[in-house]
Amino acid sequence: MKLTLSVIKADIGSIGGHIKPSQKLKDTVAGFVDEHGIKKGLLIDRYVSSTGDDIAILMTHQKGVSDDSVHKLAWDAFVAGTNVAKEQGLYGAGQDLLKDAFSGNIKGMGPAVAEMEIEERPNECFLFFAADKTDPGAYNLPFYLAFVDPMHCAGLILSPKMAEGFKFVIMDVEHTEGDRVIGLSAPQDLYDIASLLRDNQRFVIEHIYSNNTGEIAASISTTRLHNIAGKYTGKDDPVALVRVQGSFPATGEVLSPFSIGHFVAGFMRGSHTGPLMPVKANSPISYFDGPPVVSAQAFSVRNGKLTEPADAFDQPFWDWVRDQVSQKALDIRRQGFSGCAMLPYSELEYGGIVEKMKKLDGKFTVRKE
Ligand code: F6R
Ligand code: MG
Ligand code: MG
Repeated sequence: MKLTLSVIKADIGSIGGHIKPSQKLKDTVAGFVDEHGIKKGLLIDRYVSSTGDDIAILMTHQKGVSDDSVHKLAWDAFVAGTNVAKEQGLYGAGQDLLKDAFSGNIKGMGPAVAEMEIEERPNECFLFFAADKTDPGAYNLPFYLAFVDPMHCAGLILSPKMAEGFKFVIMDVEHTEGDRVIGLSAPQDLYDIASLLRDNQRFVIEHIYSNNTGEIAASISTTRLHNIAGKYTGKDDPVALVRVQGSFPATGEVLSPFSIGHFVAGFMRGSHTGPLMPVKANSPISYFDGPPVVSAQAFSVRNGKLTEPADAFDQPFWDWVRDQVSQKALDIRRQGFSGCAMLPYSELEYGGIVEKMKKLDGKFTVRKE
C-alpha cells in the first residue's frame, strides 16, 4: 500500500530554560493528535517524542506529502501545547510558531517538516532522527557517508541492491524566493556532491533516492528559521526520516557516521561550533545549552501501524562515543569565543552583536600616511 510518513517538530516551550518540554505539554500534544487525527481517521498512527527542547509528532497516513489537513493537525496540536506551555510558565512558549494563523502548509511557518510517500514494503523499517541545538546541515556529513562511502556503508560493495548508488537532491537554503535545488548522483557526481555539502549553512540534503529502484530513501527538513523571521528565533533543529535495509543502507550503516561526533553549528545561542552527540530519545540538553544532540529511533511499520521505537543510540557502544564527544565539546569550549569556536559573523544568530559592530564601525579611523 501507499503510505505517507510525516514528522513535524517544533520548540513550543520547555522547563527551566531550553532544556526539555514538560510531560504535560507532550501529553497534551499527543492527546490532541489522537482526538483530532486518529479518532477522525485522518491518521493511521502517531508517535510523540522529544529531543532537547523540541517536540516531534511522527505520523502515518495516506494523504500524501504536504497535505493541508495533516499539517493543520500538527499546527493545531502545537497551538494546544503552547497553551499548556503558557499555563505552566514554560520558557519560549510557542517559540517556533512564527505565524499567527495556519495558512495551508506548515512549511515556512516555523516547525520543521520531513515527509515521504512510500510503497510500504512487507517488512518496512526506517529511522527517525531529531537533532537539537543545530541546523539542517548537521545531517550533510553523516548522510553523505552513509549513502556514498563504503567505509561506512559496506553494502555499497557487498550488496547488488545498492550497486547503482544513490541520487541526492540538495537545496540551496540561502535562496528564499523559492526552492532552489539540484539533483546529483553518487558515485558519478561524488566530488560535486562533496563540494556542495561541505557548506552546511548553504547547501542541505533534502531527499535521497535509490538509483537501483528509484525509491525514496531519505527526507530531511530544510527550514531555516532565520530566513522566515529575519531575526534569531531559535536554531533550526532538523528532523529526518531514513528508510533502511534491503536496497537501502542497513540501520547500522546509517548510524555508523554518527560515531564521529562531527562539529556542527549551533550550541549556546545558536552561535557556536560544537560536536554532534548521539543521544537517547527524550534526552534533555544541558552543558552550554548543548552540546548539539541527535536522537535516532528505529521503527517497523505494517499497514501504517507503527511498532514501539527501538532507541538506536541507547546501547553501550554509544556511551563510549558520548564520552569522546564530551571531550571534543570541552576542547572547543576552552577557546570560548575565539576563531572557529564561535560562528562567523554572517551566521551569528543574536542581533546584539550586529548593533555592537555598527557602533564600533563608526568609531574606527583610517590613519593618514
Ligand atoms: C539555542 C537556545 C539557547 C538560547 C539561550 C538564550 O537554540 O535555544 O541556547 O539561545 O538559552 O536564550 P534567551 O535569549 O531566550 O534567554
Ligand atoms: Mg529552543
Ligand atoms: Mg530546539
